[in-house]
Amino acid sequence: NSTGQQQLIALHERTRDLYHHILMNTKVGEEALNYLHDRGLTDELINEFKIGFAPNQRDFLVQVAQQDKVDTDLMERSGLFIRRDNGSYSDRFYQRVMFPLNDFRGKPIGFSGRLLKTQAYPGDDQPKYLNSPETELFNKRQVLFNFDKARNEIRKQGEAVLFEGFMDVLAAWQADIKIGLASMGTSLTEQQISAIERITGQVVIAYDGDDPGQAATDRALTLLDTHSRLNLSTVTIPEKLDPDEYLRKYGVSELQNLIHHGRQTPFAFKMYYRKKGLNLENESDRLNYLETVMQDLAKVQSPVEQDMYLGQLADEFHLSRESLKQQLNMARQTQR
Ligand code: GTP
Ligand code: MN
Ligand code: MN
Ligand code: MN
Ligand code: MN
Repeated sequence: NSTGQQQLIALHERTRDLYHHILMNTKVGEEALNYLHDRGLTDELINEFKIGFAPNQRDFLVQVAQQDKVDTDLMERSGLFIRRDNGSYSDRFYQRVMFPLNDFRGKPIGFSGRLLKTQAYPGDDQPKYLNSPETELFNKRQVLFNFDKARNEIRKQGEAVLFEGFMDVLAAWQADIKIGLASMGTSLTEQQISAIERITGQVVIAYDGDDPGQAATDRALTLLDTHSRLNLSTVTIPEKLDPDEYLRKYGVSELQNLIHHGRQTPFAFKMYYRKKGLNLENESDRLNYLETVMQDLAKVQSPVEQDMYLGQLADEFHLSRESLKQQLNMARQTQR
């Protein structure tokens, strides 16, 4: 690691600790702390993840950096500041609950800040989450939230759970599911998959239950499908909730139950997902559905699994296994 990178990490550590201090120990952080408590996060978790608060002041960090005699080159490279047209700097993050983003060793390399809406600051034109920009340290396609803390537990339990939002990772942690990971709002990347593959062969996808979350599940499955060593399953959160909302509504044991016992095979997910937007009473929709689903089934490796679902589909659509088998063979051939 170059000294430049070490200086950047040191600046992030200093910033993280300051934001954390403000959240935990000051009047300015009180509203944010109440917000987190209201969302069910305990002080223990807030301390563990060193969550913080960036006050509603455009030059809070600028002043600290000047006192610390941080040179402007480093300030610029950190992504924590925005350079104004007149050459002066302002803070990138303000009025936000700050979540440190760590590299795989646990060193802070960036932040995601969640807008704290208040009466005094509705922030209607601001994005809900703001991430650090790409820097020499921070590449959002590489980061997996909680990878540093979850790594050992993932190895031990032999599996990882992928969530859509890092608030879901924290909710799961609160429910004693400490093997949760999340990408930073981007779809899953090859780099992230290889990092996961190095520590486990089993991945559970538990994205949000709403339509975008289900579409993201479908895309993640397609991507992960090329990694034949990974054993995949999906969990659909009911009522279009996300895992965090589900926990708040139904409690710890229900979320645990869902994550541990509500798993579907990727093909079962696809059978359900492909029905969206179709009217299966309608013959052409029904044919379309069956053709698509047979394409999916042709990709299933295990003959037993194939046969099981073939039986299910035959029953559901009152078709002979024989004709479905022929359809499956055709699908197999078109895939080569
Ligand atoms: P809460 O509303 O705080 O519960 O957030 P969430 O975890 O439910 O987030 P959501 O389902 O809306 O989005 C999932 C993930 O997408 C978040 O964890 C973020 O990483 C990312 N994301 C969501 N909104 C934004 C945004 O406005 N800007 C950016 N850059 N990322 C976002
Ligand atoms: Mn409180
Ligand atoms: Mn969502
Ligand atoms: Mn969500
Ligand atoms: Mn949420």
